[in-house]
Amino acid sequence: MTEPQLLQPLTLRGITLANRLVVAPMCQYSVSDGLVGDYHLVHLGRFALGGFGLVLVEATGVTADGRISPGDVGLWDDAQIPGLARIAAFLREHGSVPGIQLGHAGGKASTLRPWDGHGPLTAENARPGDEPWRTVSPSGVPMGEGWAAPHPLTVEEMAGVREAFVAAARRALTAGFQVAEVHAAHGYLLNQFLSPLTNLRDDEYGGSLENRMRFPLEVVEAVRAGWPAELPLVVRVSAVDASRDGTTLEDTVAFARELKARGVDAVDVSGGGIGAGWEHPIGYGYQVPFAAAIREQTGIATMAVGLVVDAQQAEAVVATGQADLVAVARQAQDDPNFAVHAARELTDGSYATYPVQAGPRLASRERLLHRLGPWTGPDPVLVEQKGGSDALPPGTVRA
Ligand SMILES: Cc1cc2nc3c(=O)[nH]c(=O)nc-3n(C[C@H](O)[C@H](O)[C@H](O)COP(=O)(O)O)c2cc1C
Repeated sequence: MTEPQLLQPLTLRGITLANRLVVAPMCQYSVSDGLVGDYHLVHLGRFALGGFGLVLVEATGVTADGRISPGDVGLWDDAQIPGLARIAAFLREHGSVPGIQLGHAGGKASTLRPWDGHGPLTAENARPGDEPWRTVSPSGVPMGEGWAAPHPLTVEEMAGVREAFVAAARRALTAGFQVAEVHAAHGYLLNQFLSPLTNLRDDEYGGSLENRMRFPLEVVEAVRAGWPAELPLVVRVSAVDASRDGTTLEDTVAFARELKARGVDAVDVSGGGIGAGWEHPIGYGYQVPFAAAIREQTGIATMAVGLVVDAQQAEAVVATGQADLVAVARQAQDDPNFAVHAARELTDGSYATYPVQAGPRLASRERLLHRLGPWTGPDPVLVEQKGGSDALPPGTVRA
């Protein structure tokens, strides 16, 4: 059996990930004032127990007005550090590298939590205690029908946003995170600068691709300068806008080249977020070809994401050199043990990568189950207990 590439460690700068499986950032819309608590510790902690090499905390607002919804996590205030520090410590203690996505939603901020409805928060639809807030963007283009026109950022205000990214990264470092991911995808602020559909500025930050990339690159450069040289920096991009009229893969390859030149270690290749709906083909791993093209044409490490649902599929992405890392979001929600399950499936069925609290007992139960065969109905099928008692749970036999 050839060694599964998905299970090989990957070193980025001074950090080694135990394998190539990543939990993609996933907003939970479940906190107030940006402060995480027990919910996030459990939600994210289970992915470390589930064997993922890297766990990325959801889009974390670098400013309060950069949150997508009132329920978003934040890092605009030092008071938000301790809750995240507890999570980072847990992830590290249990074998995952803790990472965090830093974002600003720009013109797509101030929205409802998805289970309260879709679209912008208004005085009428907001939960008691929540209030809509003024959104910002490169040039005030509304993000869709029924959305208010955001405030177009002045160059001075953009400097404030850039510094907010830097300050949030510093807080993430204090909290113990080892990977920072700048969110430049999904139609949020930095993506709004990149896309010709939402950036209609006529200054040096709009117009040509070079100009549209300028602000996102300034942000990345500033974050890189403040982020320790031994720690990796990742940027999430939308390889293409949802609309076919927007950003192209060619634009994103050019952007990735500039990111690489500024010390970015990997590009997390997603897609969409600007336009009424996804106008590109969809299927298993539909964004993997984008990651492959960026990797091939720029030489930067890539993370592939999007409808990766099983171990063989994830292994194929890495083994064929399309990406260095594979991120899963919904599949991780469905199976937080996806990474340890993948390790079993791609090897000899060993429980070696399971937490020590579970692996050995599952292995001995496996031997017993093998003797019993499949469950055939309510009438018990019993076999003689042979030799040692390791097939039984602790406490049922004397040591
Ligand atoms: C519940 C949920 C929340 C998400 N929140 C974020 C987020 O905070 N930041 C982000 O970049 N992408 C977010 N995404 C997108 C995922 O990271 C991922 O790119 C997308 O779901 C496709 O991967 P999948 O097919 O494995 O789910 C979210 C997805 C889901 C399902």
